Amino acid sequence: MRSAFYDRTGPAREVLQVGTVDTPEPGSGQVRVRVRVSAVNPTDTKTRDGTTARPFDGVRVPHQDGVGEIDAVGAGVDAARVGQRVWLWLASPGGAGGAPLAEWGTAAEYCVVPQEQAVPLPESASDELGACLGVPALTAYHCLFTGGSPHGTNVLVAGGAGAVGHYAVEIAGWAGATVVATVSGPEKAELAKQAGADLVVNYREPDVEQQIRALVPQVDRVVEVALAANLDLDLGLLANGGTIVTYAAAQDPTIPVRRLMTANATLRFVLLYGVAREELAAAAREITVAVSEGALSPLPVQRFPLDEIAAAHEAVESGTTGKVLVDIG
Ligand SMILES: NC(=O)c1ccc[n+]([C@@H]2O[C@H](COP(=O)([O-])OP(=O)(O)OC[C@H]3O[C@@H](n4cnc5c(N)ncnc54)[C@H](OP(=O)(O)O)[C@@H]3O)[C@@H](O)[C@H]2O)c1
Repeated sequence: MRSAFYDRTGPAREVLQVGTVDTPEPGSGQVRVRVRVSAVNPTDTKTRDGTTARPFDGVRVPHQDGVGEIDAVGAGVDAARVGQRVWLWLASPGGAGGAPLAEWGTAAEYCVVPQEQAVPLPESASDELGACLGVPALTAYHCLFTGGSPHGTNVLVAGGAGAVGHYAVEIAGWAGATVVATVSGPEKAELAKQAGADLVVNYREPDVEQQIRALVPQVDRVVEVALAANLDLDLGLLANGGTIVTYAAAQDPTIPVRRLMTANATLRFVLLYGVAREELAAAAREITVAVSEGALSPLPVQRFPLDEIAAAHEAVESGTTGKVLVDIG
């Protein structure tokens, strides 16, 4: 099959290759998916350049997320699944308890995953949406639901037009929360509004806290992409007993113990690779319900052919607004 791959870490143009590799066969409990579209996440570029240490044996086919059709099933999987259009999650999790063929990501014509990681995509959903869900939607869901549903609560989503932030806004709204999103400018403000945020505030303005208080006196949960930069704002708004969930690690904050203690606050951290597979599978099913109800949408996308996968990685590294997709089929 045609595939992108790398056998050492480094800059995209130096290590990413496109060529022919053996087509993987599905093992017991697995399905093989003919991939149509693969999506690039920051985790894929950080793994490829070595920033994130995720050791691999031999060759790694990159990318966790994608969309395609099941073309073969392994032992113990219902043969009726052949032909199903599916969205994929954590296709290449490495040494985090994944499938035996754990390094076969979605940047290839075929990808093999445990059957629960190929989730039927509702007919109404586009391939673009299916390809974009994976890491961003699962992260958003986990940040919002760990410790209880956000229904009826006030949620602050920092960076509401980022990939995770976008799904945090949409999933929180779908779950019945009041959603405030912060962004850095008008283009992203428009995206967060389209996603359904009840209030969108430019976090670079001086009176962010007051603008948010005009809609909600306090927030119960913060989905945080930049903890060090925003902890002061988050604590200014957090209700007693509230939770700040952070999923990104650009910079380490100074922990204001007394303020956190006084607020009876919970500071939670999320790394998707370490979340139990059953929990992620359950989240994937709920996300699919949200898709079928029309609650989720793709961000604007930038598309690249497989041969230009290095340019696709560079687009993610440059901080492109929206999602970067690689067309395989
Ligand atoms: N722990 C996990 O399991 C997990 C899962 C998914 C992603 N991540 C990590 O999370 C990060 C974001 O991923 P992504 O795919 O959502 O990336 P993305 O689409 O590039 O979004 C990042 C967003 O963060 C916003 N941002 C940056 N600084 C901010 C600040 N001070 N306040 C508010 N917003 C700010 C950016 O908006 P502006 O440009 O407007 O500031 C941007 O929209 C990456 O580092 C990724 O590796 C971790």
